[in-house]
Amino acid sequence: MYSLVVENIKCIIAAGGLGTRLQEFRGNKSTKILLDVNGTAMINRQISQLVNWGMRKFVIITNPEYLNMIREVTLGKFQNLEIDFSIQEEPKGISHALYQARDYVEENEKIFFVLGDNFFENNPFNNFDVNNFHEGACIFTTEVKNPEEFGVAKMDIDGKVLSIEEKPTHPKSNHAVVGLYMFDNSVFNKIETLEPSARGEYEITDLCNIFVSENKCMNLNINGWWIDAGTPERIIELEEKLS
Ligand code: G1P
Repeated sequence: MYSLVVENIKCIIAAGGLGTRLQEFRGNKSTKILLDVNGTAMINRQISQLVNWGMRKFVIITNPEYLNMIREVTLGKFQNLEIDFSIQEEPKGISHALYQARDYVEENEKIFFVLGDNFFENNPFNNFDVNNFHEGACIFTTEVKNPEEFGVAKMDIDGKVLSIEEKPTHPKSNHAVVGLYMFDNSVFNKIETLEPSARGEYEITDLCNIFVSENKCMNLNINGWWIDAGTPERIIELEEKLS
């Protein structure tokens, strides 16, 4: 069953990563986003998840090599949705991937940015009306036992976001930032001010921290399971959860 359609929001899916940790998994030689997850390509599973949350307008960011395959697989299944595609020529990070969607976002649209391999038990908007998000950024977090593997957010007692760190050796909390982000339209100008990190990428964490420094970053806690399906073990776990 579909939930209410969310108005004035463009959903941007980062689907450019090759998934080096998944090469050769079940004979996979292409991109992880096309991997079969319980009989459905991961990208189509992702779109179905987002449609269930009320999203209708999409931009998929792909790498050049797999654009045509991803286009065929998605448009073959979702003829009724508005889906655009944009290419990320080089793997320069998650913020850089988001930047590739800049020409597809209308003046009056907010941005819901989703990492294509992130799957959730529950709708993250169950306890929040997305139509009430107008300005700034919103991150989504959940408590985990292994925060050092993710972006980690520190909140004050009122839930205000104080800082976000990318895979810190000594995490300041156990609140992992999951692969969902909301931004207002100022996000593309902010990406232009980013510098590459030590690993040469335009990090999503650095982008969110600009909103934190402007006091414009809110946090929503998600509940239920969350899987960042970037390794063979997590794909298998996802399949178990879905079946
Ligand atoms: C990325 C982000 C990280 C976030 C995670 C969620 O990491 O850089 O901040 O917590 O996605 O899935 P990656 O999984 O690409 O290493």
